[in-house]
Formats: sequence, structure tokens, C-alpha cells
Amino acid sequence: MAIYLGIDVGTSGTKTLAMREDGKIVSSATVEYPLSSPKPGWSEQDPAHWWRATVSSVRQVLKSAKIKPGAVAGIGLSGQMHGSVFLDRNCDVIRPAILWNDQRTAAQCAEIEAKAGGRKKLIRLVANPALTGFTAPKILWLRDHEKRNYAKTTQVLLPKDYIRFRLTGEFATEVSDASGTLLLDVKRRRWSRSLLEKLDISRDLLPKVYESEEVSGQLVDIAAGQLGLAPGVPVVGGGGDQAAGAIGNGIVRRGVISATMGTSGVVFAHSDDVQIDPAGRVHTFCHAVRGKWHVMGVVLSAGGSLQWYRNQLCETEVKAAKRKKIDPYELLTAQAAEAPPACEGLYFLPYLTGERTPHADPNARGAWIGLSLRHGKPHLVRSVMEGATYAMRDCLEIIAGMKIPIREIRLSGGGARSKFWRQLQADIYGRKVVTINAEEGPAYGVALLAAAGTGAYKNVVEACAATIDVTSSTAPGRKTKAAYNRAYPMYGKLYQSLKEDYQSIAELVDE
Ligand code: XUL
Repeated sequence: MAIYLGIDVGTSGTKTLAMREDGKIVSSATVEYPLSSPKPGWSEQDPAHWWRATVSSVRQVLKSAKIKPGAVAGIGLSGQMHGSVFLDRNCDVIRPAILWNDQRTAAQCAEIEAKAGGRKKLIRLVANPALTGFTAPKILWLRDHEKRNYAKTTQVLLPKDYIRFRLTGEFATEVSDASGTLLLDVKRRRWSRSLLEKLDISRDLLPKVYESEEVSGQLVDIAAGQLGLAPGVPVVGGGGDQAAGAIGNGIVRRGVISATMGTSGVVFAHSDDVQIDPAGRVHTFCHAVRGKWHVMGVVLSAGGSLQWYRNQLCETEVKAAKRKKIDPYELLTAQAAEAPPACEGLYFLPYLTGERTPHADPNARGAWIGLSLRHGKPHLVRSVMEGATYAMRDCLEIIAGMKIPIREIRLSGGGARSKFWRQLQADIYGRKVVTINAEEGPAYGVALLAAAGTGAYKNVVEACAATIDVTSSTAPGRKTKAAYNRAYPMYGKLYQSLKEDYQSIAELVDE
């Protein structure tokens, strides 16, 4: 049976998996690398690490499942979005790539908005407002702060597209990842000439744009030799990690939504047409399904808030879990279950790393509000989980308000693995939630795109239908749902009350 490789160039490591044509995963491997933060708020990585991790993870995957080079019929690429790799005329990397979670570009975002004729006009041109993590402001930052590097730049690539260049020798991207550059006319699925002109960025700096399942090039001899594969293997467009992860969850139809609770939390909805939130609170990007779009809300510290709580305040629980040989999160959720829904007035705001949806505020911060002598550790941990889930509900409410139907919510990430958190999500969203048989995320999604793009399936929708099934379903409890409906409006008000104070605190810290 033919084998398809999915490669996901993530922030902490590159994961490669090998999938059989029928969707079964035969092996997977992850190779990690460091992230550097040369200044506060900066986040960079050396693209050479991504390449080495790609080579090593592909070799491990081939070896562990004894896959013959000739069996690999297609490769799909996914990766962290919004990052920028700057290449010179010899195709060498000029400086470390600036990543999606880098915050240095506030001034350039303001410039982009002004040159586009204001926030509303910018949203009309590229469907989204300027956010510090996006690619376009990074190009302008290079122009402003590293003039010599900017002058040398002949090509700007997204992380996975740099790997594509090493694999195929082609400068190419695809619509889903290109949407996150802020330079794509998301409606027409091509670079926005109009915005490029206004920003004085040359179209020549940008690669050719494909649909996600289209073949963008073939494996060249030198890369084939390094990876242990045969030359000529087709490499399809693939997808940014969110769109690719959604394919891996089967989010390819109207009405099917995913809620992924990882370090960050993402609510992702398929859309048959371009739906834009005029306030720009959710992102509207091209989907990795041909001719379709998606709307997505991003909570920066969802599972990350619980991780922080475990690391900072749960030494005893972590030690106890070690003794019992269980996951510390099992103990924490058992503790959370001891507190009542809505935690007797205790709220946690999960903005530990600022927030994207709905506030787009890098200065927002975490907080417990409503603490009293009655509150103990069960309340603390439950409120953290509730706060992260309220933040996800914020995203869902915006999507529902855009008249995108929500018929099925598929859970994935850490929040899908715990029974307690599945129930909490059903209760706070006030809707039935389901889990599915696929847990591999973006690497699986792009392996499916590779299978579809090289002819094993008619298209990626058919590939998902053949491989992904619903495995469990959780309905909200009537009373708990009502308790959360009463508590949720106050959660939203708390940020509004603190908004200006967050700004003042940020200024104090900067002094
Ligand atoms: C999506 C986003 C992250 C990165 C890193 O908008 O910023 O998902 O792609 O994973």
C-alpha cells in the first residue's frame, strides 16, 4: 500500500508521520529544537534546525516502520504560521527567522493600518487586522531596523515553505498559510497587489501560491539522498498548522467546528464562503479545502494556564502523582471536581501571555478575581479550567454571531483527553461536544492532503470521510449549563473593567 508522509514544522519540534493510503498511521517521530529570545518579546529560530529535524524525523519514520523509499507516494507540509525566513540571492538564510509569537512589530502594525487607509479598509483588503505576530509587519521591521539585511532579501518564506524549498528547490506556498502573512487577498486567494503597493513591498519577494492539495514540486536528488527517499516524490501545498490540524480533525464541512485545547486554544470553523468579522476579533483565512475558507479564534494561554498552575502551585500534587505513577493532571482534575460549577464567585482570567481573540491585547494579563476565605485549591484549579473554557466560549459566540452554523463541536488537544474537561466544555459551551478517532493533528492533516493531491482520493473531503470517525459524545448537564450561563457574562465584564489598568501596568513595567 502507498505511504504518505506528513511533516509538521512546529515551534518546539518537527514531527513527521507516515500514513498508509487507508489512513492508518504506521510510524511517527518528533525531533525537538530550541527557540531563542534575544530580547524581551522577541522569538526567533534558526531555519537550519528545522531542516536538520526534518531530515532526522523522516529517516526515523522510514526506519522504524521499515518503509522502502519507493513506497512513499507523496509528502505534505505543515508548520507554525506567520514566521518569516529571509533569503538572499544565493538562497541562503540571512538572519534567524522571526516567529509567530514575536511581539516586536507594534509600530509596523500601526503603519500598515495607516497606509491601508485605516483598520476597516485593511480588513476589506486582506480580511484581517494587523497583528504583531503576522508576517507583513516583520518585513517592514527588517526594513526599519536591519537595512542591510532588507536590501539583501530576495525571498520571504513561511517556515514550512522554507522546508519545501529545501525539498523541491521551488519557492511556493499555499493559500491557508499565505492568509496569515496579511498580504493575501483572502477572498480571491492570491497576493493582494493593492496592499503590496501601498506598503511598497515587491511581489517578487513572495513565492507562488497554490491550493493546499495541489502538487507544488518534486523531491530533488540532493534532498532525496539526505532523507533516504527516491527523487521525484510529489510535495503538495499542505497547510498552516491550524488549517492542517483542522483537516486532521475532519473540519471540512459547514456546521462542523473544532475546539482544540492545547497550550493555546483554537476554535476553528469551516466556511463555504468568506465570512469576516468587521471588528477583526477572529481571523478569516483560506481553508486547506479547495475554494473554501475558515474562521478561527485563538486563545493564547488555554491549556497553557493549567500548565502554569501545575508548574507554579502544585509541587505536592506533582510529587504525589509521581508516586502513584499517574499524570499530575489526573489529580488536578479530581481536585477541580470537588469545587462547584462557577466556583462560588471565583473567576480566573487566562491572559497570561496577552490575548488575541477577542481582545487583541498584548498587555492583558492573568488574574484571579473574587477570592475569599471559602476558596481552596479545588476552587483555584477549577476556576483556571473554567477561565480557559470561557475564553474558548468567547470565540464560539463570535463565530455563532457571524451566522456560521454550529452543529457539531469536535474536541481535540489535552482538553479532549480528560473526561472532566470534556464535560466542562459541554457545560460552558452549552452544546454537545464529540471526540474523534484521529489525534495526530497537523501532520496527519497534511498526509491526507498528500494522499488527496496525488490521486489516492478524489479530494481532501473524501479523504477525511474515509478515515475520520466520531468516537464519543458528551451532552451538557441541564443545571450546570444554566449555572455557567449565569456566570459567563461577568467573565466578559472583568476584562473590560481591567483593560485600562492592564495598559498602565505595562507602562509601569516598561519604565
Ligand atoms: C495561528 C498561530 C499558531 C502558530 C503556531 O494563527 O499563530 O497556531 O501557527 O502554532
